[in-house]
Amino acid sequence: MSIVDREVLPTNVTPLHYDLQVEPNFETFKFDGAVSVTLKVNDDTVDTVSLNSIDIDFHTAKIGDVENAEIKLDNESQIAAIVFPKGTLAGKDEVTLDIKFTGVLNDNMAGFYRAKYEDKKTGKTKYMATTQMEPTDARRAFPCFDEPNLKATYAITLVSKPEFTHLSNMDVKEESVSNGKKVTTFNTTPKMSTYLVAFIVAELKYVECNDFRIPVRVYATPGDEHLGQFSADLTAKTLNFFEKSFGIKYPLPKMDNVAVHEFSAGAMENWGLVTYRVVDVLLDKENSTLDRIQRVAEVVQHELAHQWFGNLVTMDWWEGLWLNEGFATWMSWYSCNEFEPEWKVWEQYVTDNLQHALSLDSLRSSHPIEVPVKRADEINQIFDAISYSKGSSLLRMISKWLGEDIFIKGVSQYLKKFKFQNAKTEDLWDALTEASGKDVRGVMDVWTKKIGFPVVNVEENGNKITFTQNRYLSTGDVKPEEDKTLYPVFLALKTKDGVDTSLTLNKRSETIELKDADFFKVNGDQSGIYITSYSDERWKKLGQQSSLLSVEDRTGLVADAKSLSHSGYTSTKNFLELIANWKDEKSFVVWEQILNSISGLKTTWLFEDQKVTEALDAFIRDLVIKKTNELGWDFSSKNDSFATQRLKVSLFGAACAAREPKVESVAFEMFEKYVAGDKKAIPALIKPIVFNTVARAGGKENYEKVYNILQNPTSADEKLAALRTLGRFKESDLLERTLGYLFDGTVLSQDIYIPMQGMRGSKEGVEALWKWTQKNWDELVKRLPPGLSMLGSVVIISTSGFTSLEAKKQIEEFFKDKSTKGFDQSLAQSLDTITSKAQWVGRDSDVVLNYLKEHGYYTK
Ligand code: BES
Ligand code: ZN
Repeated sequence: MSIVDREVLPTNVTPLHYDLQVEPNFETFKFDGAVSVTLKVNDDTVDTVSLNSIDIDFHTAKIGDVENAEIKLDNESQIAAIVFPKGTLAGKDEVTLDIKFTGVLNDNMAGFYRAKYEDKKTGKTKYMATTQMEPTDARRAFPCFDEPNLKATYAITLVSKPEFTHLSNMDVKEESVSNGKKVTTFNTTPKMSTYLVAFIVAELKYVECNDFRIPVRVYATPGDEHLGQFSADLTAKTLNFFEKSFGIKYPLPKMDNVAVHEFSAGAMENWGLVTYRVVDVLLDKENSTLDRIQRVAEVVQHELAHQWFGNLVTMDWWEGLWLNEGFATWMSWYSCNEFEPEWKVWEQYVTDNLQHALSLDSLRSSHPIEVPVKRADEINQIFDAISYSKGSSLLRMISKWLGEDIFIKGVSQYLKKFKFQNAKTEDLWDALTEASGKDVRGVMDVWTKKIGFPVVNVEENGNKITFTQNRYLSTGDVKPEEDKTLYPVFLALKTKDGVDTSLTLNKRSETIELKDADFFKVNGDQSGIYITSYSDERWKKLGQQSSLLSVEDRTGLVADAKSLSHSGYTSTKNFLELIANWKDEKSFVVWEQILNSISGLKTTWLFEDQKVTEALDAFIRDLVIKKTNELGWDFSSKNDSFATQRLKVSLFGAACAAREPKVESVAFEMFEKYVAGDKKAIPALIKPIVFNTVARAGGKENYEKVYNILQNPTSADEKLAALRTLGRFKESDLLERTLGYLFDGTVLSQDIYIPMQGMRGSKEGVEALWKWTQKNWDELVKRLPPGLSMLGSVVIISTSGFTSLEAKKQIEEFFKDKSTKGFDQSLAQSLDTITSKAQWVGRDSDVVLNYLKEHGYYTK
């Protein structure tokens, strides 16, 4: 698509400054607004001013004293064209457009919206008024030029009853109370994009951290604010670190973080006023899982990284979204690695982001990192694993290639050059080329502009090794016309002498000769975005040489072996043999990859004969039992390192999931004590595992117990665990009950996907969920926020659990006569996922069965 195809505003005027005032009304759920936009006139012969607006009532629109002749509202393009009498702009360089309007304080978590909550003290229902603008919902809050490169300054004023706190991007300039109304005017912002504007009117309290040169706070509704200290401290530390790393000061006079009760994403990086889902910013560390602690840390650092990547320097247009999200992701790992070296986050990166990237990008319906997007309903769909995970994987690859110091130096030059402006991907390449002297652009263009990634096939002939690259698809059915791209592949060949970083495979195929081919591994430390396929003998050998491999290497081998069996490049037997050999593995990261991969196989075999799935459980029990017994299940020890805790938790969880009787009974015992009133009986680290174990056993009695926990949780984390667990019961009446909670007010719209995720663990759950989705489709569409990707996530969750082509056909049938606007990509990806699973079971069900029989796991 060329730039002309984008649905953008006409350029006869461009905004310079907005004076914006809003006053929410908590009775009518509307808000009154007034906006004065100073416009630069680029073409004074045009008398129409077009700007974005949706669900807004215009009262008056004026330029000076001249009132509009007509307003044409187009809901499809979300543009309001304000027509002025001929000559209104003639001879003017600048004019001010004044609009008075009323908007809806909606409950869709988009634009200026109301978020419901229960008052801690009185139990009464209350509301907070807050904003979520990204990507294209600022136009619901005020008429504006809602494109990322139409930067302007903002002076915002909020009006409400005096008991409310007012917050916006900037600090307060003036505040007054008169006639029972509080009026707060904020200082003018620097030049910024519309999607970063934020304002909040709510009852709030805060905690703060004074370790940074400007005020750093975490706000929450009264009674919860003390849980914000962890994030407040981390905010101060992170701002300090990024300022030093980039050599650029955080330019605003304060940094607020706010816990918002109903929130569609995890968090939003609004400049100076970051908003969060409650559980992603408030933390009760002693009562949380390790995953939760790491998640909060990641989210906070991610949003703070955006203050530079996105807020200070913004992508020119949404197809550069990866510059925002890829960088924020990479940077949060970078800072976290500095703060918490024990967490070994870069090792975890391989099981986490890299696998997410490869998994989505191995579908035909994936997209290039830089993908042309033109309309609102396309923009929200690229907030996906390609922009976040493939984007950050690419940055990880570059940083390893250039060296981290040079990478940071180049990145900092890029930020300095484009601050308060917009940038394109090429601008980044140019800065990195300048800093490194390497042809960064030449190498990286392919990676951002082309879809997919390669599988590198390694063929051995004595010491001669031939590398061949082809496009990889998890369906294993690449057509010649889909296999035209040649990616620049850093081979990073690891031998006993170390890693040779000089080898790049630019052609289809290349042969080199090794001095000694006893040990070698391609893609050292798994720094490249590709999969490596070896011969059966080499897989065996690598399985025995684990002492020569880094954690990242071992993790990568497990993940690659699984992907290759999935797509049919190798037999599933190679994968099973590899992991069966690594029962003594010490790293929690490698273990987590092993367990993820095998559970990927398990979910693909979900609809197979129960005898086979039971045999798979027996295989898993055998895999984990030795290490589980060795480490035990005392989770209270203060002496355990982070790594030991993580490993204990993972193994305990896997053993429970595979129904290891001894471990299961430990979990049951804890649960019984817990519901009898001993709130310390389940260690916080394994609460979700224990709940799941109970759900696996099933029964109405257990369901009631979990439901009671959901009603009276001791922490937000516990509530989430209980909610997910309700989806894990397999009995049809219990599944019905859980599904009933999705719309009756028990489950908030923001959490709807959580019990749904629980249902993906059983075939009964997958079927019940899909039936429910079809029945409730219209209501779902109505409830889920228009600008965000939530509907797409729900479609994926409720369809991709299937494993057969018949089910796929049924799903296609259902959507055939429905509009798939806003989630067509998600649907296509889900269907591709089902195809790939159907092909895997179809191809290898005998292989797996025979393996399980031969090793005594399958018994008649
Ligand atoms: N900019 C996004 C929030 C967002 C997501 C806005 C989707 C519009 C559509 C924010 O920076 C973000 O990426 N949040 C993540 C957390 C992060 C740790 C990956 C999220 O919401 O989960
Ligand atoms: Zn982000």
